[in-house]
Amino acid sequence: MQRPITSSHLRARFLAFFEDKRHVAIPSAPLVPANDPTVLFTTAGMHPLVPYLLGAPHPAGTRLVDVQKCVRTGDIDAVGDDTHLTFFEMLGNWSLGDYYRDDAIRWSFEFLTAPAWLGLPLARLGVTCFAGDDRVPIDRDSARLWEALGIAPARIQFLGRDDNWWGPAGRTGPCGPDTEIFYWVGDAPAPDTLDVADRRWVEIWNNVFMGHAQTAAGEIVPLARVNIDTGMGLERTLVALGGLSSVYEIDTVQPLHACLRALAVHPDERALRIVTDHLRAACFLIADGVAPSNKDRGYVLRRLLRRSIVFARQLGLPADWYARGLARLVDALGATYPELTGPIAPVIAEEVSRFERTIAAGLREIARRPALDGAVAFDLFQTHGFPLELIREIAAASGKPVDETGFARELERHRERSRTVAAGAFAGGLADHGEQLVRYHTLTHLLQAALREVLGAHVIQRGSNITHERLRFDFSHDGKPAPAELAQVEARVNAWLARDLVVERATMTEPEARAQGAIGAFGERYGETVSVYTVRDPATDEVVSREFCGGPHVTATRALVGQFRILREQAVATGVRRIKAVLA
Ligand code: ALA
Repeated sequence: MQRPITSSHLRARFLAFFEDKRHVAIPSAPLVPANDPTVLFTTAGMHPLVPYLLGAPHPAGTRLVDVQKCVRTGDIDAVGDDTHLTFFEMLGNWSLGDYYRDDAIRWSFEFLTAPAWLGLPLARLGVTCFAGDDRVPIDRDSARLWEALGIAPARIQFLGRDDNWWGPAGRTGPCGPDTEIFYWVGDAPAPDTLDVADRRWVEIWNNVFMGHAQTAAGEIVPLARVNIDTGMGLERTLVALGGLSSVYEIDTVQPLHACLRALAVHPDERALRIVTDHLRAACFLIADGVAPSNKDRGYVLRRLLRRSIVFARQLGLPADWYARGLARLVDALGATYPELTGPIAPVIAEEVSRFERTIAAGLREIARRPALDGAVAFDLFQTHGFPLELIREIAAASGKPVDETGFARELERHRERSRTVAAGAFAGGLADHGEQLVRYHTLTHLLQAALREVLGAHVIQRGSNITHERLRFDFSHDGKPAPAELAQVEARVNAWLARDLVVERATMTEPEARAQGAIGAFGERYGETVSVYTVRDPATDEVVSREFCGGPHVTATRALVGQFRILREQAVATGVRRIKAVLA
């Protein structure tokens, strides 16, 4: 039997349970990390606690519990489905050198299953533990504990670094193996065996045994003091426990979604979801002091707002949609997060009118033209920052069809001209050659070099698209790379990042470049010469990568702060694979 459970109830029960176990409840840190320039936003509960996880004494003691606001925009394109939200809350309990594995697991189990707490049926639970690798051994201790608590062995799976290892949050810092708790949401009884590939097994809680730290050299070293870091995604857990079909049914999201639905003239569900999600995240970012701009955090906020404005237009929402939506958000979350009651609407109003002016300029441009050929559409996209959805909409309203094939051709031409970096910026809707784009561009070269090392020299770039938040890289390869191969690619790139390589540009003739082993199909030409970028280890002179490329790039990989992670790998066409990856 599933019981309805509200967000306030889950938050309050979680805090009360751990207070009962002598934890001190601490408030959520802001979404903008206080002293950490290496990340844009707080993306997990452990983020604001990194100094304490590394040994600094926390004023509230060694046992903490909290509900942390988080923003993750790496999967922004997936928003609109049932599960992805860019803003979410994470429940966590923390041991700073206090209790370790035994208590963490026992308490997780008690909170989930004891009738006095959540009272979930054991029959719906399964867990994963770290399978071990060449650096850290298999975690049999956790498995034994779970089994002693009553989890059947077939419901305990051992998985590798991709699944059961967490951190570091940046390039260096605390990390360790973890054990993840899965809840069966299917209508049929749960199968005897846990299969994490079955979407009806939903991960609800992660317990990280933070006994290690990753050094700048990429080594995993034991920490003097071991910690526990746990994370339970509030929204995901509410969906699972409440038997809901999407995150838009949760009480912290539903009122805003319902309000927009009621206001919409053309209530398209995906558009409604995107506006709901983006407005929610944007309001929380503004509440924490972020202002729209063309750089870094401000850029992410602007992108969230502009995407919601575009979809709000499609939905036919009235002019005050965001103020009305904000009011519903405050009803749902203002008591928990009083910062939401600050001056948020004026910031959005300003961005709306700025974007409306851009749109008006584009409309005048369209009115002057008899048709929207590819070049005009591309100019709107490039010069005015119009997303393609908006161009389509305006064109349809004025009875001028868009030549989308021509548009795609222009885009491709542009990509070939300025290669990856500019294309990535435009994909984000703004003509901005931000530093992050340049970093990702250099990272793309490292990724290609690593793929060629691991999969073979047949690998060659077939396309690329970069945004502030991730890189996307298409390459030639037959068949699906094994998880172990992708892990090797990640490890290779991270090992290079740890080595502080230099990135140098040279111009030479094409035969010279080929003679030096430069790769790449579309070298940018400068008269008789081509531009070549080399990534080199100044200590050993080893050439890691050499590609025809117009740039721009960072001058040293030290500018690439963070851990390289492959988020997704898939096929895009016969013999062409696509990787999405981040530096986080
Ligand atoms: N830091 C861990 C996570 O975010 C608990 O999953």
